Amino acid sequence: MIIRNENVFLLQTKNSSYFLQVLPSGHVEHLHYGKSILSRGQYEELLRADKEDKKIVLQMAKAMEIKHRHEGGNMIVYSPDHYPLCLEVMPLEMSSFGKGDIREPLIEVSHADGSLTSDFLFESAEILDDISKLDTLPSSYDDGQELKFNDETIDKAAQLVLTLKDKEYGLRLDLIYKVYPECDTITRTSVLYNDSQEKIVVDRLLSNQLDFQRVGLKLTSFHGRWADEMNMSDSICTAGKVVNEEISAGESGSRSNPFTMISGPDATEEAGDVYGLNLIYSGNHYSALSANGTFLSRFVSGIQPTGFSWTLEAGEKFEAPEAVMTFSDKGFHGMSVRMHDFVRKHIVRGEWRDKERPILINNWEATYFDFDEGKLLRIAKDAAKAGIELFVLDDGWFGKRNDDKAGLGDWTVNTKKLPDGLKGLADKINGLGMSFGLWVEPEMVNEDSDLFRAHPEWAVRIPNRPHSLGRNQMILDFTRKDVQDYIIDAMSKVFSSANISYIKWDMNRVFSDTFSRELPADRMKEFTHRYYLGLYRVMGELTKKFPKILFEGCSSGGNRFDLGILSYFPQIWGSDDTDAVCRMDIQRGYSYGYPVNTFGAHVSACPNHQTLHTVPLETRFSVAAFGCFGYELNLSELSDEQKKQVADQVAFYKEWRKVFQYGDFYRLDKYRFMAVSKDKSLAVALIFQKECRPNDDYLALRTMGLDPDKVYRIANRQVKINIKAFGSLINTMAPIHVKQNGIIHGMIDKFYKMQSEKEEITTTGGVANSCGVRLGPDYGGTGYGEDTRMFRTDDTRLYVIAEVQE
Ligand code: DGJ
Repeated sequence: MIIRNENVFLLQTKNSSYFLQVLPSGHVEHLHYGKSILSRGQYEELLRADKEDKKIVLQMAKAMEIKHRHEGGNMIVYSPDHYPLCLEVMPLEMSSFGKGDIREPLIEVSHADGSLTSDFLFESAEILDDISKLDTLPSSYDDGQELKFNDETIDKAAQLVLTLKDKEYGLRLDLIYKVYPECDTITRTSVLYNDSQEKIVVDRLLSNQLDFQRVGLKLTSFHGRWADEMNMSDSICTAGKVVNEEISAGESGSRSNPFTMISGPDATEEAGDVYGLNLIYSGNHYSALSANGTFLSRFVSGIQPTGFSWTLEAGEKFEAPEAVMTFSDKGFHGMSVRMHDFVRKHIVRGEWRDKERPILINNWEATYFDFDEGKLLRIAKDAAKAGIELFVLDDGWFGKRNDDKAGLGDWTVNTKKLPDGLKGLADKINGLGMSFGLWVEPEMVNEDSDLFRAHPEWAVRIPNRPHSLGRNQMILDFTRKDVQDYIIDAMSKVFSSANISYIKWDMNRVFSDTFSRELPADRMKEFTHRYYLGLYRVMGELTKKFPKILFEGCSSGGNRFDLGILSYFPQIWGSDDTDAVCRMDIQRGYSYGYPVNTFGAHVSACPNHQTLHTVPLETRFSVAAFGCFGYELNLSELSDEQKKQVADQVAFYKEWRKVFQYGDFYRLDKYRFMAVSKDKSLAVALIFQKECRPNDDYLALRTMGLDPDKVYRIANRQVKINIKAFGSLINTMAPIHVKQNGIIHGMIDKFYKMQSEKEEITTTGGVANSCGVRLGPDYGGTGYGEDTRMFRTDDTRLYVIAEVQE
């Protein structure tokens, strides 16, 4: 709901309010964003009210506005007409550079006369029932999601456009706010129009500016590197500035993901005010929380201004990416669930948005570049037997791609490896009852490729200067229309050359030596943003042309994991680290801002290829199940017993897939996850044993999100246990002496499998959520019974939870 009364605007969602007013000077004062200022009753009343009844919002604004009566010592007084307005101490919706608000600006423009000063003042406002889209960038969208009240009053998405003008220079700035009431999310962006007769240079145009009337807020951001994404980091900003940015990586980046959170320092998982903030953008980004000695903090975010500028000719416009804000007073979990709902319903789109994602097997860690059709089909046959639904052929199927030094750019099948081509392989895979998927890396080219030999000018590099490579490859100049068209055509040919149901779209280096031969020298700072405009065009065209294909983004894992990519591709490969223990950290990191069904997670071989760590197959399964689930190992080389285990995991996952992929996700603690179906009738919980200690068997499972009034049956997923896991302890039970790892030990292990403990607890959601249920004992060095949980270091247990129908 968006309400206007006179110059006061209230943007209302189910549980939050965003409140602003236009000052007599024309500046827009930010009054509040956070907990709802309306009671549920007032909200419903306002939904039905006519203008007269909306007086309440005027009273509220009066109470909340800043009431300065004197300027501070050396502050700039904006104008004698509006004495004593000092912009420096005002919470504002947007700040221009140079008029006395000496804090971080939303916009910086170099005008034709050389001046850097701008002054944007309110001109008009428009409230729309329809959610609009940006012309050049991906946008959030609405397909009619409603917020229903008990008496059938309904609220829906709406949009506010505030138009501001800098009359001195003939510039117009639209601040666009979209309100999604059902998931407590508001987005905003800025669009600048050059209505003057002269060209200007935009030095920065950020998407979001959010002022808080307090200092000491915590900015939480997520950092890392290749194969170690999404490590959470907290910085409290009492004064100065905390920054989360990618400066020149040329992608949203694993070094600093664009998703951030702002909270009071005391917020916990279940309580306290938490803001979730993100950008619908994949290029270099900048977010900063600053405080400068007053009672105010400011958060800004948008395109990274370092290395950026944009020349705007008379009559042109420039769109900043859309920024996303979600608020909850129910802690980090409350914020995450709302952000997940927003991403699921207003970012992810197309055929696969609400569909359960297939269980896949990917050949990368099984074969790397060394495969032929026979090898692939052996893996595929075992995968089909296990019930796996999709076979994905990764890197190495095209051109002279036998290692990572050659072939990128040559998108024709290597018939030495695949004599019957992609179609032949896909038909055989389809014949096994599985669908077929393929890997591509369209944005890149190797020097050793026919494409580079034919079009060296398409590679990004500075003419006559040495160029730095990343993974032996160069970036194609996606700022160029001819390159975009070529890739759309080349990919269309590949995607229609066989029955392809899935595409993994990879991108394996960061940017360097950025330069385009098509751009004039004084526009080279436009390169990276133009690259993304080009990439979004290519992704948009291809996803429109192939609507049935499930696309998975990838950038050496999660090096470009963002809402821009998710606006085209419903899921992204989470990390090249497939070690289940590391993955718990990485996936927990993602879970703050992204729903489980947006990140790929696979069971891989042990010792793990990235860490050489060995963990049980069940652990690898339980962790990957909290992601877009699949396998990435040589199934045909597993033992028969392991193949049976895989088949059992696949069957279990199919039964619980909807809860895993579409349930509300809870971080119970660092090593415990849980997913609860939206109707709260089903749930799955995962517990992980970080370090097994003897005589330490007093575990409880405290759940989150169950309905306190409902009765649930909680049961563990039973697994088979190898006798060998007990080592020489077998002799405490065996009638004869068994030599550890001897022939008899091996025979017993082969033919006799122990069943893990069986637990079944029936209780109310209230008990499970508030107190937790006490679990049976762990093995702790003394005694072993049927109810003892073998819970070694790195073991996991899954618990399935189902409402008991009376
Ligand atoms: C990086 C990806 O993250 C891997 O999963 C794999 O697809 C390789 N690229 C292939 O080169």
